[in-house]
Amino acid sequence: MKNILVTGGAGFIGSNFVRYMLQNFDYRIFNFDKLTYAGNLENLTDIENHSNYKFIKGDICDKEFVESTIKENKIDTIVNFAAESHVDRSILGSREFVVTNVLGTQVLLDAAKNLGLEKYLQVSTDEVYGSLPEDKKEIKFTELTPLTTNSPYSASKASADLLCNAYHHTHRLPVLITRCSNNYGPYQFPEKLIPLMIAKATDGEKLPVYGDGRNVRDWLYVEDHCSGIAAVLEKGKIGEVYNIGGNNEWYNIDIVKLILEKLGKDESQIQFVKDRPGHDRRYAIDSSKIMRELGWAPKYQFPEGIDMTIKWYMENEKWWREVMSGEYMKYFEKNYSSKIK
Ligand code: NAD
Ligand code: DAU
Repeated sequence: MKNILVTGGAGFIGSNFVRYMLQNFDYRIFNFDKLTYAGNLENLTDIENHSNYKFIKGDICDKEFVESTIKENKIDTIVNFAAESHVDRSILGSREFVVTNVLGTQVLLDAAKNLGLEKYLQVSTDEVYGSLPEDKKEIKFTELTPLTTNSPYSASKASADLLCNAYHHTHRLPVLITRCSNNYGPYQFPEKLIPLMIAKATDGEKLPVYGDGRNVRDWLYVEDHCSGIAAVLEKGKIGEVYNIGGNNEWYNIDIVKLILEKLGKDESQIQFVKDRPGHDRRYAIDSSKIMRELGWAPKYQFPEGIDMTIKWYMENEKWWREVMSGEYMKYFEKNYSSKIK
């Protein structure tokens, strides 16, 4: 039986991954999370008493605690989700992004090396590849696309990827890297496009669309990202990078209009605001490697996934109203006040 340390397991994707692993594998899952503004144990109440699950509050930058946790719990595998994950916050201030995303990863890699772990999987992002031209739909990110980072967030994630690669190359650490496109689904923090727009539409507020709304993102239902990571963990070739994506490109404005339509709301709620500085124009992932080599394929198509997601937010209003209070309001004011034209 494997003992997996899932860092950042109280966040959006991490909590979905913890649940996915408990439902589909007989592994012990240790959720190691600092519980920042984005970490929420409410995301895991349904599995908190599962016999193969344990929560540990901790910071991945804390070398001593990371190493003692690994020893005490006989951890053999790390899956690292822990990160500062929101691009807009990295523009307001990048320090925490460098500390957690780069130095935190370095601490985990050192611990994995020093304690002889069997596997280390880094959950990375397609943002490390930069931006694609809007008019050349045939071009997508492959695992061989050079790293080009445009936001402090993507720079910190790419730095972590480079460290992972260096630890594999120099120390023969058994590293795997996944790079996924934009996720959507239950428990996504409502600072990100889809849940933010669902919340604003529900409340009859303005929906802030950056720039001309024609930036393109490639959306994948979160459970499909989790199954992709599990496939890489089980069958991935050590030292390799695997892209994960849904082959599902959308203009932001079309996603926003779709959400309004599904909620029976009017497009007059849309408000175009000043663009995000350095805003990447288009992301699109080529997932043919993971599909061909590991037999992975997404289970959910977008029409089904977006309906499931909207339904989840409608049924879990208490969850998102709670996380959108307090500190969130200060962030919202700081990020959006200068953007209103
Ligand atoms: P999230 O912001 O919802 O969750 C991040 C989690 O990490 C939170 O639970 C937080 O408490 C925890 N955390 C932060 N700093 C920590 C620290 N120092 N020590 C321990 N825990 C810490 O993020 P998410 O959207 O679930 O993304 C998870 C991972 O997946 C990130 O690494 C992100 O870069 C990557 N990713 C995200 C997407 C996406 O669309 N959201 C796509 C591709 C890759
Ligand atoms: O591609 C993977 C990445 O996807 C992950 O690595 C990041 O962690 C995750 O946050 C996400 O990054 P994006 O910047 O693409 O996601 P976000 O939801 O912030 O924005 C999606 C698009 O919507 C982007 O083009 C900006 C736009 N947007 C976003 C917000 C929050 C708006 O137009 N208005 C908004 O208010």
